[in-house]
Parts: sequence; structure tokens; C-alpha cells
Amino acid sequence: MRIGILISGRGSNMLALADAIREGRIPGAELAVVISDHAHAPGLSRAMERGVATLSIERKGRTRREHEREIIAALQDHRVDLVCLAGYMRLLSPCFIEAFRLSILNIHPSLLPAFPGLDAQRQAIEHGVKFSGCTVHFVDETLDGGLIITQRVVPVLDDDTPDTLSARILSEEHKAYAEAVALIASGHYEIEGRRVHCISHQERHSS
Ligand code: GRF
Repeated sequence: MRIGILISGRGSNMLALADAIREGRIPGAELAVVISDHAHAPGLSRAMERGVATLSIERKGRTRREHEREIIAALQDHRVDLVCLAGYMRLLSPCFIEAFRLSILNIHPSLLPAFPGLDAQRQAIEHGVKFSGCTVHFVDETLDGGLIITQRVVPVLDDDTPDTLSARILSEEHKAYAEAVALIASGHYEIEGRRVHCISHQERHSS
């Protein structure tokens, strides 16, 4: 499975996926390309340093449709099967989602469906929840509302700030994203309604 990762900034989830692939923790996966919509995204140079194919496709001077068309063409050129959004700060249009139906994943720093959208960690603190975490989900036309693949939980401490909570969640994000991509790449899952189930070894061999 050839993976394309879209980033806009720091790229720590992208690096976590790149490491997991390199270390064989995502069997059958290959990192085909990292694309940023910002030429100066720190994640882009970090990917380049590791010898990963990178592209910067900036929006400026283009409509959203033209911009997305260019990204889709680049993903197709690199024969990408699975698109992973990793801190990619633009909403994808229905055309993009249709081009990669059930083949786009995102990671979000809350336990969805709680706190979708921006500043999820601040939303969690302000709401007073005692636990938060991260969610890896399929991307559909809704904002952070696609089918949930995996979640990891962290406590929210009394003295947390958005920064301290973000850091605690981020280290779980790195594990969760690699686990979720490994599950999708293995094909050992099934979808029933909104539920994404992992199919066990036994179930696979008895059916
Ligand atoms: C992460 O918190 C991710 O959940 C959110 O954006 C942030 C990206 O961080 N979607 P990084 O660029 O992967 O370090």
C-alpha cells in the first residue's frame, strides 16, 4: 500500500508514520510522497532530510478546486492508495473525498465526536472533561465526523494548559496513527454501520 501524507506544519505525525513504515511496524506500506500546502512547513524539510519524496503545492493564486486537482494529480502520479492527513489545515472538498473514498485518514486531538474543529485541546479544558485523547478516523464530507478507526485516552489534569494537554495527547497520536494505518494497510477490518471492526486472525480463517 502506497501512502501519501499531507501536512501544513510541524509534521510530527508524518515523521511518526515514516518511522513506523521504516521500522516495519506497518507491514506492506511504503511512503510514496509527503505533500505540503506551505513551502516553508518545517515538516517538509524534515521529510526531505530522511530522503522521502516531497512536494510543495501552494494554494496561492489558485481556486480551491485547482489547488486540489493538482494535489490529486500528484497523489495519482505517485500511485498513492491511502492518503493520511497529518496536521493538514485545509478542509477537503467533496471532489477530493470522492477521488479517494474510504482511503483518506485524519488524526484529531480529541475523543471524537467531542470537540471537533480547531483548538480541540482548549475546548476540552474549557469544557471541564477529565479525559481527552486522540482519534484516527476516515475522512468524509463532515468536519471530523468520519468513521472512527482508533482512539487513545489521556487524563486532563487540573493544572493543564492547552500546551501541556497537547503534548500529552501528541505522544499518543504518534502511536495511534501508526496503529490505525497498520490496520487499514492489513485489510483486516470490516465496516458495519458506523463501526470499524478489527477482524481477528481466527475470524479471518473461519470465514
Ligand atoms: C496534531 O495535533 C493533529 O492531531 C492535528 O494537528 C496536529 C498536527 O501536528 N490534526 P503535527 O504537524 O503532526 O506535529
